[in-house]
Amino acid sequence: MYDIEIADLRKLIELVKEKYDYDFKNYAMSSFKRRIKRIVELYKFDSVDALVERLTHNPTFFDEFVSEVTVNVTEMFRDPNFWTILRDEIIPNILSNHNKLSIWHAGCSSGEEVFSMQILLEEMGVRDKSHTIATDIDSAIINRAKEATVSKKNIELNSSNYERYQGKYTLDKYFTEDKEKYNFNKQLLSNVSFRKHDLVKGQVFSKFDLILCRNVMIYFNQTLQNDVLYLLHESLFKYGFLCIGSKESLIWCDIANKFIVINNEEKIYKKVKE
Ligand SMILES: C[S@@+](CC[C@H](N)C(=O)[O-])C[C@H]1O[C@@H](n2cnc3c(N)ncnc32)[C@H](O)[C@@H]1O
Repeated sequence: MYDIEIADLRKLIELVKEKYDYDFKNYAMSSFKRRIKRIVELYKFDSVDALVERLTHNPTFFDEFVSEVTVNVTEMFRDPNFWTILRDEIIPNILSNHNKLSIWHAGCSSGEEVFSMQILLEEMGVRDKSHTIATDIDSAIINRAKEATVSKKNIELNSSNYERYQGKYTLDKYFTEDKEKYNFNKQLLSNVSFRKHDLVKGQVFSKFDLILCRNVMIYFNQTLQNDVLYLLHESLFKYGFLCIGSKESLIWCDIANKFIVINNEEKIYKKVKE
């Protein structure tokens, strides 16, 4: 089995930074290495050098490379209890303060998290008070999110999450069947814009009441997690809420003292200091 040297990875990371201005140097090394190994095998390159060669001379390959290097696994209503807390505590709290709601899904993948949120808001009768921006580094996945489809093989898991969340109906109310996939009711996306945005670049582009950045920082090393948390903190209004993945933690980060823990199991935090 082909083994990848750190020097090979370094060369690849430098090329990508120089030519495409994407910086993967602070991604968690072991999972990044696994992804590169997968790409080498999938595209039958004989070495990382061959991959570097392809990226050097074939810029159209770069989008594919980003799609393969990032992990896009997602589900609707992932961790159902998290969504119950959003519905019963967090969103009513925000709306009681200023009657409108701005949301950022940072690292939204193919959109399942966004569809879940719009269903939640619709069932609460507050969707028209909300505005949502959903971003990801991967252009192909953002395009899929805009198409708003869910593959048939995932619908069972999504439906069972929705049931555990105790949604008002059954999930099929929001989809129409179409060959190998289900089409999400796009009317529910009328207050959502999807955009490409790279968390590594650290650009603040707006302020939000609620940020979901779930299962994204798990692929970053401690340095990058710290930097991204500064960006997320800066992008939140004071007393806004930050939600990260259930296996992630904020407590090791420099900026932890500017948040309080609202729910430790579901990793929901509130910004209390500028
Ligand atoms: C595992 S998915 C998480 C999707 C969703 N938030 C969830 O929890 O189900 C991680 C997503 O983060 C995105 N991502 C990775 N690096 C990123 C970066 N630097 N900026 C923005 N998004 C990034 C990936 O493209 C991928 O779609």
